[in-house]
Amino acid sequence: MGTKRLRRKVRHGLEWTAAALDDLGRWLTRKTDPELPPLRLRFVGMGDFRDVGDELKTLLIRFGLRPSDRVLDIGCGVGRVAIPLTYFLDERGRYDGFDVVRRFVAWCQRHITPKHANFRFHHADVQSSEYREKGLAATEFRFPFDDASFDFAFATSLFTHLVFAETRRYLGESARVLAPGGRLIATFFLLNDHSREVLPRLDWHYRFPNEKGPVCFANAANPAAGVAIDEAALVQLVRDAGFARYEIHYGKWAGRADGATFQDVVVCWR
Ligand SMILES: C[S@@+](CC[C@H](N)C(=O)[O-])C[C@H]1O[C@@H](n2cnc3c(N)ncnc32)[C@H](O)[C@@H]1O
Repeated sequence: MGTKRLRRKVRHGLEWTAAALDDLGRWLTRKTDPELPPLRLRFVGMGDFRDVGDELKTLLIRFGLRPSDRVLDIGCGVGRVAIPLTYFLDERGRYDGFDVVRRFVAWCQRHITPKHANFRFHHADVQSSEYREKGLAATEFRFPFDDASFDFAFATSLFTHLVFAETRRYLGESARVLAPGGRLIATFFLLNDHSREVLPRLDWHYRFPNEKGPVCFANAANPAAGVAIDEAALVQLVRDAGFARYEIHYGKWAGRADGATFQDVVVCWR
């Protein structure tokens, strides 16, 4: 095992142990929230798990999610958005989510599906330098759903962990499984004149210093840790995937106070 991989494993182990101790403390003081996954499973991004989930749910509704929709959550994590959606989708709607991390999917299957039969979770046997060592290449992965079987698909903070060829594949698959008129809401770190200009001054850990063609990585040794993508290249991929039109709503990450959410949001219509 290389030194960098070993260091990453040690870091993940320490983070997991700290979170597990925090879980124990909450359990002993009866402060556990029974609806949410334990802290040791919540490694899906910054901020408060419930607040971010609620914010993303509101964003999806703003961009057209309806209670009766057939919804696909691509890279669903450990239910951060699914949990608030259980209060929004009605009995006509249904939700499918998939993710590469088996323990995330297993937690959702055990804790969400028994109470909400129209919420289903699937494990994707796909490799990622950040999330899963083994599995199929994401560029070969076919979403396990029929053509045109969803009204609404979303991917929150997923494409920020995919390399360029994987993004191409996942956009193509998203277009395939959406019904005509359906839409995809996906978040990105978009590289354009504005973000390139402010990036060096940003006061946070992702500065994406490692350029590889149309994408830049936060960490060259672990590409899936954080990926930013050239906006024009992304727009071309959206068109190539077969989407009829798209809109971009910039996020706050590159210093825009009025951003729709933290990452940039791309809405694509089938
Ligand atoms: C930052 S987390 C966001 C999770 C979730 N979308 C949310 O907003 O809470 C990124 C997620 O993408 C998943 N992921 C990474 N690569 C993937 C791939 N190729 N296919 C499906 N999921 C993937 C990870 O396992 C992780 O759960």
